[in-house]
Amino acid sequence: MKLCVVGTGYVGLTAAVSLAHLGHTVTGVDADQDKVEALQKGRVPFFEPGVARLLAEGMAANRLRFTPSLPEGLAGADAVFITVGTPQGSDGAPDLEAVQAAVDQLAVGNPHPRPVIIKSTVPVGTGDRLEHRLRAKTGKSWHVVSNPEFLREGSAVTDFLRPDRVVIGAESPEAARIVRRIYTGIDAPMLLTSRRTAELIKYAANAFLATKISFINEIADLCERVRVDVTHVSRGLGLDRRIGPHFLQAGLGYGGSCFPKDVAALRWQFTATGLEPAILAAVHAVNAGRRARFVQLVRSRLGELKGQSLAVWGLSFKPNTDDLRDSPALDIIPALVAHGARVRVYDPAVGPLARSRFPSVRVARSPLDAADGAAAVLLLTDWPEFAQVDLGALKARMARALLVDGRNQLDPAACRAAGFEYCSLGRPPVPPPV
Ligand code: UDX
Repeated sequence: MKLCVVGTGYVGLTAAVSLAHLGHTVTGVDADQDKVEALQKGRVPFFEPGVARLLAEGMAANRLRFTPSLPEGLAGADAVFITVGTPQGSDGAPDLEAVQAAVDQLAVGNPHPRPVIIKSTVPVGTGDRLEHRLRAKTGKSWHVVSNPEFLREGSAVTDFLRPDRVVIGAESPEAARIVRRIYTGIDAPMLLTSRRTAELIKYAANAFLATKISFINEIADLCERVRVDVTHVSRGLGLDRRIGPHFLQAGLGYGGSCFPKDVAALRWQFTATGLEPAILAAVHAVNAGRRARFVQLVRSRLGELKGQSLAVWGLSFKPNTDDLRDSPALDIIPALVAHGARVRVYDPAVGPLARSRFPSVRVARSPLDAADGAAAVLLLTDWPEFAQVDLGALKARMARALLVDGRNQLDPAACRAAGFEYCSLGRPPVPPPV
């Protein structure tokens, strides 16, 4: 099929290259001329495994191109995806300006209707309003379909091509059939729902995953008081098929561009309908407290931070991405610097970005380089390479052998054996060697 994808950010570009990989002919549309030019040259403006390869594949097969012109992208398309951002507004409500503008643009020149597939995360009822607006503007029977994405940064291509399910929220059986055809070749349950149901599934899914994280983080606080290792509790929970092992890793909690925004947006939808989202308010409160709790832990071990050298491992909000949006590092590093600490940071992907976002710190070239002369290593992001660091070599570089593990990634027994003091969020501390 011939498809148009409006918005070539992290979700839109992943969708465009994946749909081309499935055999469709795809035109990506973006108002950002520079981004369009970079994509035309095969350059991906962010770090996401697999996207560059599929971009090259699609363009080599002449199934993928990019343009700043929506009318050009729409010409001859069997359906159009809307994948623009819906950032958090002041009161938690998502800002729908970009979605509104993209859909309004579809009316320009009054082209013939085709399914408008909203992949952007939008509050329940948005599709109804967009469809009504488009029909009022054109006098034609456009159909809007909700097709939410469940892509995780760092595994977005895999999540698109091998999803747990495809949710298609449509009021028109014909539109639903067209969207189902687009996903031919995807081996996953196709869940056909009403449009509003699909919109709510997206928010409920993200909010539930965030709830699992805040739940295990609250359990982690109790573990510290009763001398239990939260990672052992997580394992015991996760073996229950009804609970499952995922999203039960205690530590600094969630960041990124989605969970914080989507939990806030769902809370807003509750209050907008006169309901009180008690659970979601607690999920947010627990998560918001993790960063200050971590700084408190560091100060409880080191005392006065003024003049102390600290190594920070990991800046991105999670491994396998260079995305700093709402990363714990954005709160923790300024707090350490405000207490007078001298901070050196290392992150495998954020590198060049670090200097602009963290002007008061030094950027190291490796985990060991960051730890030179440090009183402590603070692990903020669980990049796999941190678990591989030679602890003997690390200890030799440090002024004091203290590891503060914000993601419960390191092995306390191995740290003890290597002569380290170890502490974390939710596990019994390893005291300094006698
Ligand atoms: C999330 C959803 O997983 C995805 O389905 C949705 O489409 C977009 O939002 P993403 O934000 O990319 O994806 O990352 P994810 O892997 O879900 O992690 C989110 C945050 O939770 C990260 O900050 C991560 O460090 C944290 N996390 C995750 C935990 O603290 N503990 C866990 O057990 C899992």
